[in-house]
Amino acid sequence: MLALDSTVNWLHLFGDPTRVRLMALVASEELTVAELTAITELQQPRVSTHLGKLREAGLLRDRKVGASTFYAVNEAAMPREVRAIWDLLRSEIQDAVLDSDKKRCQGLVKAREKATAWPDAVAGQMERYYSPGRTWEATARGILGFAHLGDVLDGGSGDGTIAQLLAPRARSVTCVDRSERVIDAARARLAREKNVSFVVGDMHELAFEAERFDQVLLFNMLTYAHTPSRVVAEAARVLRRGGNLVIITLDAHHNEDVTEAYQHVNSGFTAAVLKKMIVKCGLEIEYCGVSHRERRAPHFEVLNAFARKP
Ligand SMILES: C[S@@+](CC[C@H](N)C(=O)[O-])C[C@H]1O[C@@H](n2cnc3c(N)ncnc32)[C@H](O)[C@@H]1O
Repeated sequence: MLALDSTVNWLHLFGDPTRVRLMALVASEELTVAELTAITELQQPRVSTHLGKLREAGLLRDRKVGASTFYAVNEAAMPREVRAIWDLLRSEIQDAVLDSDKKRCQGLVKAREKATAWPDAVAGQMERYYSPGRTWEATARGILGFAHLGDVLDGGSGDGTIAQLLAPRARSVTCVDRSERVIDAARARLAREKNVSFVVGDMHELAFEAERFDQVLLFNMLTYAHTPSRVVAEAARVLRRGGNLVIITLDAHHNEDVTEAYQHVNSGFTAAVLKKMIVKCGLEIEYCGVSHRERRAPHFEVLNAFARKP
């Protein structure tokens, strides 16, 4: 929650058309003062002054490359409430000046890319650009080469998309899902994988003996659980000593329409709540926090928890 004074200060900072223009530009591209001046056709000192104010307030970050300084929106450092104001402005303003800025910016970035070697042109923001073969699936499959997995339980496995990634690096993968139809789809997808088995079951009450698995994964499943603490307790029970639990779930949010549309029974978790659930089951937390913020509105944040059974 923001205090009255700081709310007014933030609104004042956003309450200038030039600053909103500059923020909108550097929200989608890292740009230099010279580039911002060329796009907006404003005087350079004016651009620099506004950038300075925005950077001072922590809304922008800068990065030096040779003689140039690139500016970008510093979303990670924005207080949640300020980000909400910024998201609102960004998504709700429709204006010819902003549209024209955007077009000029795209032209300028294209010209910049043509003139520079590709890695240099995208240095510092490579993940935002397409590069042949560098898909997220290729990344996941490749990085998994480092993993040596034992007996894995994929809880709330869905149709086996993730099990398909894990199977080549695991001794065995057991897909558990409460939906018979989904498990049939997983079985069809993974028909050729000899080390994958399928169980229709409820993660709140597993039919496995204790200490049956080396790794347990709960990927986008806890938002469907009526008693998430029970699911985590079951995951901990079936883990062997030294085994690992990985949870990937939504951070707590207020987009009730999405919760309803996807039939979630809760709207995500705070890291503190998730930590409490995990520790209560006797697991040691290696990491629990927000690992990712979606680029597109409403900017869901993803919580990761990595825990180990001592
Ligand atoms: C969003 S899908 C995620 C699938 C998969 N983990 C993935 O990320 O691709 C959630 C799955 O959890 C399953 N599920 C929900 N509650 C469950 C429960 N209590 N026990 C087992 N499966 C459950 C649903 O049937 C659904 O297939």
